[in-house]
Amino acid sequence: MKLLLKFAVAGALVAGSTVAQAADKLTFYCSAQEDWCQLMTKEFSAATGIKVNMTRKSSGETFAQIKAESSNPKGDIWWGGTGDPHLQAAEEGLTMAYKSSMRSELQDWALRQAESANDKTIGIYSGALGYGYNEDLLKKNNLSVPACWKDLLKPEYKGHVQMANPNSSGTAYTTLATMVQLFGEDQGFEFMRGLNKNINQYTKSGSAPIKSAAKGENTIGIVFMHDAVKQAVSGFPIKVVAPCEGTGYEIGSMSIIEGARNPDSAKKFYDWALSAAAQSLALQVKAYQVPSNNGSKTSPSAPDLSSIKLIDYDFKKYGSSSERKRLLKKWDTEVYAQ
Ligand code: F6P
Repeated sequence: MKLLLKFAVAGALVAGSTVAQAADKLTFYCSAQEDWCQLMTKEFSAATGIKVNMTRKSSGETFAQIKAESSNPKGDIWWGGTGDPHLQAAEEGLTMAYKSSMRSELQDWALRQAESANDKTIGIYSGALGYGYNEDLLKKNNLSVPACWKDLLKPEYKGHVQMANPNSSGTAYTTLATMVQLFGEDQGFEFMRGLNKNINQYTKSGSAPIKSAAKGENTIGIVFMHDAVKQAVSGFPIKVVAPCEGTGYEIGSMSIIEGARNPDSAKKFYDWALSAAAQSLALQVKAYQVPSNNGSKTSPSAPDLSSIKLIDYDFKKYGSSSERKRLLKKWDTEVYAQ
């Protein structure tokens, strides 16, 4: 009798823990800054009790991973990273539609991103592209102060400019698509080829060039302006430039992965990540993107998008599968291979 009871209790425990486990896990693919990804992981777990397994990879890399895993999806939610590859994922059926009850609290641009993907993605933040330079290194090397995109083509900057590879990085793809929209396709590629002559390294991650500039290992980094501001407010000798010709911007996005093993946890994360409280966490890690929830806290240090000359970035076109593939291939052969 005693033995029977023991088995019954053990059985109930096993069954109970199976149910709890299935409901209480989340595999989180993160494409924002590492420290922000870690903070989101910790705070979401604390708020819900859900056990989160987070991996940080750049936007293009995460897109490629989700695509490679599509016959046997391993991730549940993809949060952060530039919007273009999220749009491509939506178009290719790699992510699923979800209409959050939090939508009424969001800025129009966040909802427009959702609309253009039939609700398979949504905007969580935005930020303008630009560059930053290490003031001390610029002086030490007797270099002039750059103010425009075209300044970066000057021969004096040879070996002093760094950007990421647009295949892995959403920041760098935004750079490529921005030049095509700002100068036209021929001139845009001409610019990228000219820039290539001055590049010392194409990094994997978008913010790496400004991190190395902060450490004094590189002079100019092409990055989102908020990533340069983060280094400046952290005490490094970084100056931030909004290029004189105008510039592109991102709508950082979030998507639930099609075939997610933990869809309920993914939806809980999605709703939570759209809340003002969750988005206000960004300031703790000096993430100065513009939040999509109207009630989120912002910082006076954040770049003021209304004072920056922004192009009318065509997210639908440059986030489409055919255009993103075409531009990356063209960059590989006409710029990178040179
Ligand atoms: O570092 C933050 C950030 O710039 C985000 O604003 C952006 O969405 C993401 O990184 C892009 O990272 P990557 O260029 O590595 O894909």
